[in-house]
Amino acid sequence: MWRDLSPVGRSASSGGYFRQPWASAESELRAWFAAECTSRGLVVETDGIGNQVAWWSPASGRSEEPGVLTGSHLDSVLDGGAYDGPLGVVSALAAIDLLRERGFEPARPIGVSVFVEEEGSRFGRACLGSRLVTGATTWDEARELRDRDGVFLADAVSAAGLDPAQGLLSLDRVATFVELHVEQGRDLVDRDVAVGLATEIWPHGRWRFDFAGQANHAGTTRMEDRHDPMLTYAMTALAADKQARLAGQRATFGRISVEPNGTNAVPSLVTAWLDARASTDEALAEMVALIERQADERAGRDGTSLVVTAESVSRSVAFDPDLAARLAAIGDWPVIPTQAGHDAGILSAAGIPTAMVFVRNPTGISHSPDEHAETADCLAGVDALADVLTELARSGAPE
Ligand code: GLV
Ligand code: MN
Ligand code: MN
Repeated sequence: MWRDLSPVGRSASSGGYFRQPWASAESELRAWFAAECTSRGLVVETDGIGNQVAWWSPASGRSEEPGVLTGSHLDSVLDGGAYDGPLGVVSALAAIDLLRERGFEPARPIGVSVFVEEEGSRFGRACLGSRLVTGATTWDEARELRDRDGVFLADAVSAAGLDPAQGLLSLDRVATFVELHVEQGRDLVDRDVAVGLATEIWPHGRWRFDFAGQANHAGTTRMEDRHDPMLTYAMTALAADKQARLAGQRATFGRISVEPNGTNAVPSLVTAWLDARASTDEALAEMVALIERQADERAGRDGTSLVVTAESVSRSVAFDPDLAARLAAIGDWPVIPTQAGHDAGILSAAGIPTAMVFVRNPTGISHSPDEHAETADCLAGVDALADVLTELARSGAPE
């Protein structure tokens, strides 16, 4: 499976992945997933926006009962790594193969899922597929989202051959969700273990900062006559970095767009996106408010103006502690927090008991072509996931 996925959406120059939702690489992956599930005798369902689920139902007994769902996503950030998302999908299918090799008969259904636009890299809303499925975002609101080229979400979905009128996946059959994911930090490396579980996800969000100024000549406009939004942006980026460092939180400006983006003109508009994360909802709100205040003050001095728009906000998530403790006991796995967002957080917030399995990442690097996990650790992850699924789907397992 890993060999099959390796070339899909890969950049020849960077070696990273561009798997944008509702575009060709992701459509290819959707077909790949359906074929892998079908070849295993799993019944695949694709909903009206491209979310997928495939069920392995018990031969007898409780096939209609709520079951255990596992899986992840196949889209990537721009120039992302191979593991963020696909590792969870491939491991889910591999865990099913392993359970069958072991002769395991589930007492309740086991499903494998793939949610679309987890990264929010095209339409700006993180975990869009799972948000729509859980109702955290409505279709009426989402359909108006636009990508960088101005394409509406509704049009992108139709262009991918999908029809939202067909409806969305139902999570009624999901008693528990488990997402396996490559770790995106160095916690497991420092602990010298291959596998861990998640306690919580830090609250995080994305804010668009529109800094407006006045376009003018780069040579003839005296420095004191300028209204340069690039300066307001630059100071804001420094302020965000400083506030995050002081508070032990995270703040990043990783994307900007400049108009007219000419070398010999003072720009008229700089749009920059702040990604901010903190250990509590209050700390996050406080940090973003402080950054905004400092940006406003600087805008006053630069003679520019600023509008801030929240584009995607995810509150803190505490995964079911009893479930985490029960699963951690299987392999004596550590239970660790994460600052990365996941569909698991969305399902957990929707009231579904949820757990995450992390696989060690030797450098901690992620959202980069350099993201990596050793094969032995990936196999340990598959083994761990198979054990977790056994615990959750065995006969006599607690509800
Ligand atoms: C998703 O990976 C995120 O944390 O942004
Ligand atoms: Mn991910
Ligand atoms: Mn990611």
